[in-house]
Amino acid sequence: MTDIWKNSPRLGKRLDRVEGLLAETLSDPGFPLAEATKRLVFSGGKMLRPAFVIIGSGFGPKGKGPSSEDKIHHIAAAVELIHTASLVHDDIIDDAAIRRGTSTLHTDFGTTNAILAGDWLFSRSFRLVADYADLKSARVLARFVGGICAAEIGQDLGKFGFSTSKRSYLRTIAGKTAALFSLSLHVGASEAKADPLVIQALRRTGYDIGMAFQIIDDILDYESDDKTLRKPVGNDIKEGLCTLPLILALKKDESSLRPLLGKPMDDRKISEILRIVLATGALDEARSIAQRFTARARVEIERLPSCPAKQELMNASEALLQRRY
Ligand code: IPE
Ligand code: IPE
Ligand code: MG
Ligand code: MG
Repeated sequence: MTDIWKNSPRLGKRLDRVEGLLAETLSDPGFPLAEATKRLVFSGGKMLRPAFVIIGSGFGPKGKGPSSEDKIHHIAAAVELIHTASLVHDDIIDDAAIRRGTSTLHTDFGTTNAILAGDWLFSRSFRLVADYADLKSARVLARFVGGICAAEIGQDLGKFGFSTSKRSYLRTIAGKTAALFSLSLHVGASEAKADPLVIQALRRTGYDIGMAFQIIDDILDYESDDKTLRKPVGNDIKEGLCTLPLILALKKDESSLRPLLGKPMDDRKISEILRIVLATGALDEARSIAQRFTARARVEIERLPSCPAKQELMNASEALLQRRY
């Protein structure tokens, strides 16, 4: 697991319990790719969204012992399954060979089977939701899954268009990433019967943290390396995606960049684009936009009622901004 929670042994222990539930849920001798899919689930994901469900639940009135914690852990597991399912499908869409440092399901078993393994993860998640979540949470989760599909389709249709619309970029990352961070805090708090105003504040906080998270992900795609990131870097340009660093760089040096932006996108063009984007200072500018989202989240967190979860959320918002993977 990640060291983001190293200062919170309470959260670490609870995430271990979520991992136990994930192992149980995915043990299905009747499903041909169960073991391979389980390996992906256990190959060191950061477990951020389940942690956010648990943190959200910390804003409720004190739970009624192990049974209320158990419910939250099952819902946290369901959210991690939705996230992993979306990654399995995203890696097919993005033609990515590595995820979490290991080869992707479609690389090992072909696209058809990987699509179905992703669907199977969704189905395991729906079962947990049906058994443990309130109808209200189920509705929010269903809406999210629709939203992520819409955002990924929007992104796909724009591939190789290299549009410099910041607004359209922000809309895409809101749907594909920020919504799940927002939902995780919201559902955790709502299941724990937190005050409705606190639930709303957490929803906004999750959204802002999620926006910063995806912007950092898009920056790391330019400046990290495969080993640190445990997934391919430079993949966004290769796939014709115009994320924030490139949008900002195009505003600074369109004449050098535009002629390079087209198919086929070979390695020579990719490294030239990377070089120019870095030279424009666009990565620092993108980082300061991520910082603005985090700052907004922190203002919101400051106003939340005092509890251990509040400090965990504050720490997470900072750690996710500074992360290198
Ligand atoms: C990856 O999310 C997908 C994005 C939204 C960028 P994470 O970076 O949280 O993925 P894992 O779960 O740690 O692999
Ligand atoms: C996030 O976008 C994908 C999902 C939310 C499904 P990316 O395509 O940037 O994520 P990575 O870089 O593959 O993890
Ligand atoms: Mg991807
Ligand atoms: Mg990415």
